Formats: sequence, C-alpha cells, structure tokens
Amino acid sequence: MILLVHGPNLSQLGSRDPAVYGTATLADLVGIAREEHPRVDSFASESEGELVARLHAARTDGTHAVVINPGALTHYSYSLRDALEMLTVPKVEVHLSQTAAREPFRRHSVLSPVVDVTITGAGAFGYRLAVRAALHLLGR
Ligand code: DQA
Repeated sequence: MILLVHGPNLSQLGSRDPAVYGTATLADLVGIAREEHPRVDSFASESEGELVARLHAARTDGTHAVVINPGALTHYSYSLRDALEMLTVPKVEVHLSQTAAREPFRRHSVLSPVVDVTITGAGAFGYRLAVRAALHLLGR
C-alpha cells in the first residue's frame, strides 16, 4: 500500500489559485495516483498534529511507501520532518508548483533531506511521477 498524504490548504485545490496549482481537485490527484497503483490510501489534513500521527501509524500499518505533498508545512515543520525521518519506507515529496521559482520562503524544504525523491513543478502529472518513483524505489 502506498500512503498518499496531503497537508494544509490542499483540500481547496481546484479553486485555489489555478494559475499556480492547476484545476485538478484533491480527489482528481488521488485518482491519478491510483491509475499508477491500485493500492493508494489517501490521507489529508489541515492539521500538523494529525499528519504527524498518520505518519506514526504508517510505521506499523503495512504502508510500503509514502508520497507526500505537505503544503506550506514543507518550509518550516520540524515535527513533520522528524516523523518522516522515523519512517524507513521509501518517501517521495511532491509539489504541484515549481517551488524553486516562487517566493523565497518556498525555495527551501526542511523535509527534502529526509525523503528519497522530490518532484516539483510538473503539476498533476507530478503525482504520476511520484507514485512511479515510489514503485521504482520498491523495486517494482
Ligand atoms: C505546494 C507548494 C507550497 O509552497 C504551498 O504552500 C502549497 C502547495 C505545491 O504543491 O506546489 O500549499 O506544496
């Protein structure tokens, strides 16, 4: 099972700044991920604590890999970083937008050092790449 995690404000995709994030909804992105692998468990929360708790659960619930778009937590959440670091399965960070080309605060990810792959700027297609990268890391 691949765990697909979404952080704050990504529930609003579809109507949230479509020039930057595109028009795909969160449900659309989950659907795209499932086209690449049938066993995708989706979890989305606006709350840092809930995201940390879900990652803790992933240590023992049969999760084989994690794909995560952490939203703005990417740039400052050390608790999410530490939760990801504890997970020994393959981890892929994905962003719809090209964060390196945006505001300075978005150019740094505190999570990238503890994941295996980071994909940015490919829009919804990035979710295909992310799942495929996770499968590649799993040797499938
Ligand atoms: C994002 C980029 C973040 O900087 C932003 O806070 C988001 C979305 C992306 O997918 O491009 O919420 O993770």
